[in-house]
Amino acid sequence: ARKLVWLDCDPGHDDAVALILAGCSPAIELLGVSTVAGNQTVEKVTDNALRVLAAAGLQHIDVVAGAARPLLRAASLLCPEIHGESGLDGPLGGPVLPAPPHAAVPGKAPIVMFERISAAYQRGGGTQRVHLVAVAALTNVALLLALYPEVIEMVEITIMGGCLGVGNTGPVQEFNIQTDPEAARLVFESGAPLTMVPLEVTHTALVSTSVVQRVRTHTPSPFLGLMVDMLTFFADTYSTVFAFADPPLHDPCAVAYVIAPELFKSKLLRVDVETASPFSTGQTVVDSWGQSGAPKNCTVCMEMDVPRFWDLVMAAMHAADRV
Ligand code: BDR
Ligand code: CA
Repeated sequence: ARKLVWLDCDPGHDDAVALILAGCSPAIELLGVSTVAGNQTVEKVTDNALRVLAAAGLQHIDVVAGAARPLLRAASLLCPEIHGESGLDGPLGGPVLPAPPHAAVPGKAPIVMFERISAAYQRGGGTQRVHLVAVAALTNVALLLALYPEVIEMVEITIMGGCLGVGNTGPVQEFNIQTDPEAARLVFESGAPLTMVPLEVTHTALVSTSVVQRVRTHTPSPFLGLMVDMLTFFADTYSTVFAFADPPLHDPCAVAYVIAPELFKSKLLRVDVETASPFSTGQTVVDSWGQSGAPKNCTVCMEMDVPRFWDLVMAAMHAADRV
């Protein structure tokens, strides 16, 4: 059976590829998409999600706009230095993809998420959990779990977020967790089955020139041309801001985990989210040696089979191109 997936995201260049992978992989039935402020404002990332789905022939997938700001903090961090003013800029400035043909569905994200997730779970007779894949701040997911604790029995959560060591937007903080630490804490302490794909793994999914070449050389098409533009912009900003020779394509790694967990090495560990330190708020504190004695709450991915990851991404991009 295909895996049932709900994707929560903030597109975002790497989110765009996560959307394509979730929407075009034959292993997944994508139930819908929610958005949250992060890489850009919620209005912009919602518009971008609709643009990506339309460009990839996935306009039948509904998008619902979620939280405009974190649970307790005044405003989202935003990330124009990596994703541009639109959140999905191309090399010419401005959005890389054409305007979407339709709007987001009305309603509040946690409510729509619950309706769609519980309907899909029930449709499967309660035997198949829905994969809630979150590749942005965890605000919508935290609100969903707080409003509907019964959903904890219906889902498996996989997040792109956190790190064991060095962070990206802080010394020990990864952006998605740092954007809404209280929401992340709620999710990590919820008791829901949880897998984390941290920076240590996503920093091995590097968009090298040979990866770009693989996107490009498959019968050149307008769609794949736009994908190459998108990856080129992302490579430029990553090399300027972080001195990465090739940019890491974080978010599709979490979707790949749902498609093929056997591509990953992982460990069940205790992970807590720091919410009160002046130095490290937003850190995922990973108890590698079990020293706290606290119950293990998170499967932490440690390594990924990178060539097979790119095979999955290429197959999805090329399938999107055919529609
Ligand atoms: C994460 O932050 C966002 O900017 C990316 O889309 C990814 O989800 C990486 O830290
Ligand atoms: Ca993201």
